[in-house]
Parts: sequence; structure tokens; C-alpha cells
Amino acid sequence: MVALSDHTVQTENRLTTQSLDIGDNTLVMRSLDWDRDRFDIEFGLQNGTTYNSYLIQGDQVALVDTSHAKFQDLYFKLLNKVIDPAQINYLVISHTEPDHSGLVKDLLALAPNLVVVGAKIAISFLEELINAPFKSQIVKNGDQIDLGKGHVLEFLNAPNLHWPDTIFTYDHHTKILYTCDAFGAHFCKDDIFDEDLEALSPDYRFYYECLMGPNSRSVLSAMKRMDQLPGIDTIATGHGPLLRHHVEELTERYRSWSQAKATAEQNVAVFYLSDYGYSDRISQAIARGISKTGVAVEMMDLKAADVQEVQELINDVAAFVITTAPAAGPHATTTQAALSTILAAAKDKQFFGVFESYGGNDQPIDPLLSRFKESGLREAFTSIRVKDTPSEALYQACEESGVDLGQKLTLKENIKKIKAIDGDLEKALGRLSSGLYILTAVKGGLTGAMLASWVTQASLEPLGFTVAVAKDRAIESLMQVGDVFVLNVLETDNYASLMNHFLKRFPPGADRFAGIKTRQAENGSPILADALAYMECKVVSRMECSDHWLVYSEVTVGKVSKPDSLTAVHHRQVGTYY
Ligand code: FEO
Repeated sequence: MVALSDHTVQTENRLTTQSLDIGDNTLVMRSLDWDRDRFDIEFGLQNGTTYNSYLIQGDQVALVDTSHAKFQDLYFKLLNKVIDPAQINYLVISHTEPDHSGLVKDLLALAPNLVVVGAKIAISFLEELINAPFKSQIVKNGDQIDLGKGHVLEFLNAPNLHWPDTIFTYDHHTKILYTCDAFGAHFCKDDIFDEDLEALSPDYRFYYECLMGPNSRSVLSAMKRMDQLPGIDTIATGHGPLLRHHVEELTERYRSWSQAKATAEQNVAVFYLSDYGYSDRISQAIARGISKTGVAVEMMDLKAADVQEVQELINDVAAFVITTAPAAGPHATTTQAALSTILAAAKDKQFFGVFESYGGNDQPIDPLLSRFKESGLREAFTSIRVKDTPSEALYQACEESGVDLGQKLTLKENIKKIKAIDGDLEKALGRLSSGLYILTAVKGGLTGAMLASWVTQASLEPLGFTVAVAKDRAIESLMQVGDVFVLNVLETDNYASLMNHFLKRFPPGADRFAGIKTRQAENGSPILADALAYMECKVVSRMECSDHWLVYSEVTVGKVSKPDSLTAVHHRQVGTYY
């Protein structure tokens, strides 16, 4: 392996590039976006991201993906130092989202004879986008292109990871698998590979939950195809570090997370329209909320869906969520056809949800709602109306709408399970006593609060404690590693009104603190004025415990308001609910 190439360029917005030989005649060119903002739902951990592009040189030359348009100057400076773009024979498009294909048009201007290689839907999307003739080659699962010098590229279908157009590319010579979004992480560091597994793990998991979890069945299908390959030495991702040191560990995590989701008893379809307004991000936020309740999600892009697939999916699911159709434009007809199929195939009393995409051409939402309701369907959450560029608060409300839908589907089953278990073991567990607390958090424009009782001190130096947070709690998103919050301790004989307030079921996006006296902690989170004590906390690590996250946090500041008062204590009958 050669040393890191000296092509790093710093700009005001902390955009840099780097490159490295990662295999025989194979180079990675990474665009490092250190400060990418968090308006995208999956940028929860504030570690920026990278856009990775790859150059493979046999007798012929292939480029796998490009970069985001914001890297136009930096990317082409780097590329030109490595090769004259006119010498590139193939551009493999793993996925057409603009963070990977944002510079295709510019590249074609420099290399008009190159052949763009991609899935059928990727090529048709690019034809729309570029709006000028270019050479292309549609590839299907198992197709190969021989670049010479042993570099035989084989293509694998990987639909829905993350759009329906996704393909993986496997180089039989270097045993490198190019996977674009899959197995990636929004984790911007100088390290090119996955040496530091511990540092990478929280971002890797969060990214999976946001982008891949809602497509768990597609993940498993793609991994079946990967299992047929003659060995994978490196996974060349589109975001974050490349996987080389922990390939098996990290890919098997995808498999086990996806298997757990794919075996869920209930399933919801989420119909969106890729590259139309904010449909993609909004649908992901809803899907993430649904997934948090243990309900499986099947995403379907209406751009690629055929009527038969839509009908089969509707027959298979307990509920569906759909974007409004655009009134005009290339995908208006397909979306309308899908809507008619859904209306014809939907079952009486099936739950549904509707969202606008803010694509500039959304049809009015109310007639669609009326049509669904008149067909006997039940609205699972108040329809999501988007009147401006979506804020973080809107994405949070979308996620909470998804949680509401998932909880509606699982409510009966959960109550049945709780009632069915009332044995000695469960009664014994119920004898574990605990205090009563309110967690409060603010992150960006988001706020959250939760009544907690599974709280216990866990370390002396530094001072730290753990709290168990159910996976479907809205505040869970605000308690990622590095996040801060306040632990408010409730007072015995004076906790009922705070407890009842925070036990309430809040509608998606509602202000949890309306009518509650608070002041701001040093870390920005609300301190409840009527709490007995408070502690300012920072999340250090998280452990997954089936249906809860066990969150370990260090305490930095704390104070007791009434030194002679005691903490409110919670006693239960059985250990199967709170
Ligand atoms: Fe990284 Fe779905 O684009």
C-alpha cells in the first residue's frame, strides 16, 4: 500500500479531499465533508460524512461513482492529478442520488466517450437529469465487464439500498466489493479504513437504522448475492471508512439486525417518490419511527413500482403510508396508477398515512384523504403537510407519526402479552424498585422528554449512571453517543402532576414543555423547576438490550433543590411493564 496521496485541499467550509491506493491499480478518492449539516435525518451524530469515488485501471479504466456537486473543483483537481478524465472508459453508477452522481454531467463534458454503466432505472433517471445524449450500458445481476489485467467487474442487484437503482460492483482481481450507501457510515475522519471499530460502531449502527433498517428484506437479499462471491477482502463504501479490518464483523451485524427486523409479525408499506421534493427524507423518517416499534417496513419507490408489485405489497401489509402524487411531470402517471391500485387492493379498516413531499407540484392532500376514508380505511396519523423546506422538527414529527402508526398496530398484541405473563418470575422481577425521573433534552431544533424509572448509578470515577430507554421513545434519537441531556429527579409526595404530564400521549411534533416551568441548564436542556434535583449528563455509550437501549452517561453538573426531601419511588406488581 502506498502512502496517502498529497492532494488535500482545505476550504472555508471544511471540504477536503484525499486519495489512497487500496489495491492493485485501484485508487479511492474521498471527498470529506466535515461540517455537513444535520437536516438530513441520518446525520444524527454530527460527524460529517464523506463521498467516496474509486478508480480501477486495467487495460481499460473504470470510475465507480463521483462525488457531491459541492466538491466540483476539489474533486476534478484530484482526478486530474491521477488521470486525464478523457481516458476513463466506464463510469459505474452505483446509485443516482446526487451525493454520488452530482458530478456526472461535468465528467461527461470532460470524457464524452465514456460509457455510463448502471441499472436500467439508474440510466433512465440520468437521461432525464442530463437531458443530452450519452453512451450507456444497462447491467443486470451477474453481468460482467472485463477491464483487462485481471479486473473483471461483476454487478450485483441491490435494489432499495438505498434507492431502487442500486447495484454493487465486485472486482474479481482485488476482491473489493463496491457497495455505495450499504455498509457505510456518516463518519468523517482522516482514517480511510475501519481500524477503530469502537469509534465507528455508534455511527455505523445509527446509519443502518436510518437508511437500511427500513429495507431489511432488501439487505438480506443483497447479502445472499454477496455470499455467492468468491471472497470479499474489502468493502468500498460510498460514505465513511472502507471496511477492511472488520469486514465479517460489520457485515454480519447487518445480517443479524436485518434478520431481526424481517421476522417482525407486522409489516407496513411506505410509498415514496425518489428525487421528488423531500419525499425520500420524509419517508425515511416515517419508516424509522415505524421500525422503532418492532414493525417491519417495506419501502417502495413509486418511480420504479409496477402495478403488480404495488398490489402484492398492499395485500401483504397491515398498513401503508404514501406520498401525495405530483399533479404533472414525468412521474405523475405512475404515481396515479399506483394510487388507484392501492385504493382497489386496500382492505377495509386498514391503517394508512399520507404525507406531502414539497416537490413543487404536490396534488392537494384533502381529496386523497377523503378517497381513502370513503374506502373504509383508517387514518393512522394526522397527515403530514409540508409548507416550507422541512426543518429538523418536521422530520422529528414524521418519525413520531411513524411511531404512532407502529404502536397502533402492536397495541393489542402487546396488551395480550402483558396480560398473559403473570407468573412467579414476573412477580419477583416486579419487586425491583426504582426512582422516578424525567429526562429532558434539546438537540438542534428538537426537544424531548420522557418519564424514566430504570435509572441506576453505574460508575464512581467518573460519576455516571445508566438509563434504559425503550426503542420506540421519541427521545431516543436525542440520546446518541455525545449527546447531552438533563436527568430531573422527582420528589416523593410532589411528583404526581409532573408524572401525569409527561405520561401523556403527545401528538407528533407537540411541545412537551407547554405549561411546565423550566430553566435552561448549562448544556442547553430544560431543568424542571419543580424537580427535587437535576444532573447534566453526556451520553458515553449505549448497549442494545432487546427492546430497550441502555444508555450510559457521565454526569458533569448537578444540584439538589430541597436537601431534606426524598426521591419518589416506584413499586410495581410485575416486571413485564413499567
Ligand atoms: Fe449516499 Fe443514497 O446516497
